[in-house]
Amino acid sequence: MEFIKNPYKIMGQFREDTSVFWDEINGLYFFTRYEDVRTIQSTKTFGTTFNHIEGFEEELSETDIPLTFVGYKRSDKYATYDNFWKSEEFSLLNLEGQLHKELRGLVAKAFLPRSVQQLVPYMEEKSNDLFEKNKGTEFDMLKDYAQPYSVSIIGKLLGVPESDHLKFLDWSHKIVKMYDFEVTAENANNAEEAAKQFIEYTQNLLDKRRKHPEDDMITRLSQVSEDNNYLTDDQIICTVILLLNAGHEATVNTLGNGLHALLTLDQSFDEIKKEAEDINDIVEELIRYDSPLQFFQRYALEDVEIGGHNISKGSKVAILLGSANRDPRVFENPDQINFKREMKDHSSWGGGIHFCIGTHLARLELGVSFNHILEKQFSLIEEPSRTGAFGIRGFKNLLVSA
Ligand code: HEM
Repeated sequence: MEFIKNPYKIMGQFREDTSVFWDEINGLYFFTRYEDVRTIQSTKTFGTTFNHIEGFEEELSETDIPLTFVGYKRSDKYATYDNFWKSEEFSLLNLEGQLHKELRGLVAKAFLPRSVQQLVPYMEEKSNDLFEKNKGTEFDMLKDYAQPYSVSIIGKLLGVPESDHLKFLDWSHKIVKMYDFEVTAENANNAEEAAKQFIEYTQNLLDKRRKHPEDDMITRLSQVSEDNNYLTDDQIICTVILLLNAGHEATVNTLGNGLHALLTLDQSFDEIKKEAEDINDIVEELIRYDSPLQFFQRYALEDVEIGGHNISKGSKVAILLGSANRDPRVFENPDQINFKREMKDHSSWGGGIHFCIGTHLARLELGVSFNHILEKQFSLIEEPSRTGAFGIRGFKNLLVSA
């Protein structure tokens, strides 16, 4: 638990001792330093964990993924969780090569910068309403503000009716529990059930939008094409689930981790506003300082040397984003928040072909929130506890008044 509370101290010790350490239990090489983490994120020598699921043989044989990786079965642990796997089958995060390129190209066509920019007045209104609702009372920054705020924005972008946003929130919470190191049978069953309901719901909405198109992302996903190739229903459903899960949890935890960091600084909000030239500098520095996403796994797709170590083809590696973001080789005084920091290229948005497709939306959404936060006087009611998860780093709750 001490590690979860403050992983940076221990990761810092590891990082100074060695660029890589071997985790016997999980069979993983952990990379700690910025340069290595960025190389693993951005080169095609490493691929994401789940690209070897049965059924991709045909598609993968067209790509540059070594065919030795094709035909890997999904791990026995999850063998019975059909809906969870169905919800992930075409998740961009789990694909490589040509299939990833084509799918990402189509999703990007539907994720129009214009449609994201148009959401700013809605973000302003939603954020103001939520703060107004909680004004003068003790409230939980996560459950009473960040969660409804973030889910309503992604829901609005996708075209999900507001009355169903809470369902999305519940499904998302249950599904993301599958992404940590250890998953209990109860959490896996809950994720399976949530995935089932989520798939049915999205299929239904998609059918409606195919009949009656609207100006929303689900409609656009059903219409975009390249050389007469359209996304299939399964691909659209996986993409909607991915956009909600990837877009929601990281944003909520950035708000929680970020506000907590601001409140523990020895500076008033007015001083912070004076110091930072731009709200984006605040957002980027808070994400670097306490990253909402701490690690990702990859497979080495060929023999490779990283950080002076030989990693053989097929090995599993993990990259520690929070550790990379505090590497003193790259970031001056990394354990301190500095809104004037020149080096802004932290690892928290990922890199290479999986670079976060939602950065534009996330930056706008977080910018609106932190602008509103810095206009208020916040007090921390009690020191919050961490959720206990490492991969998705956040608090259980964050009781404040404003
Ligand atoms: C603070 C907020 C966010 C952070 C820190 C973040 C971080 C990341 C990271 C690190 C990756 C790469 C994962 C990997 O290397 O395997 C990623 C991918 C992705 N993100 Fe984000 N994200 C955020 C918000 C969003 C939002 C708002 C959306 C969309 C609504 C989104 C959608 C995605 C998608 C679809 C991918 C997969 C891209 C691919 O594999 O091609 N993210 N994100």
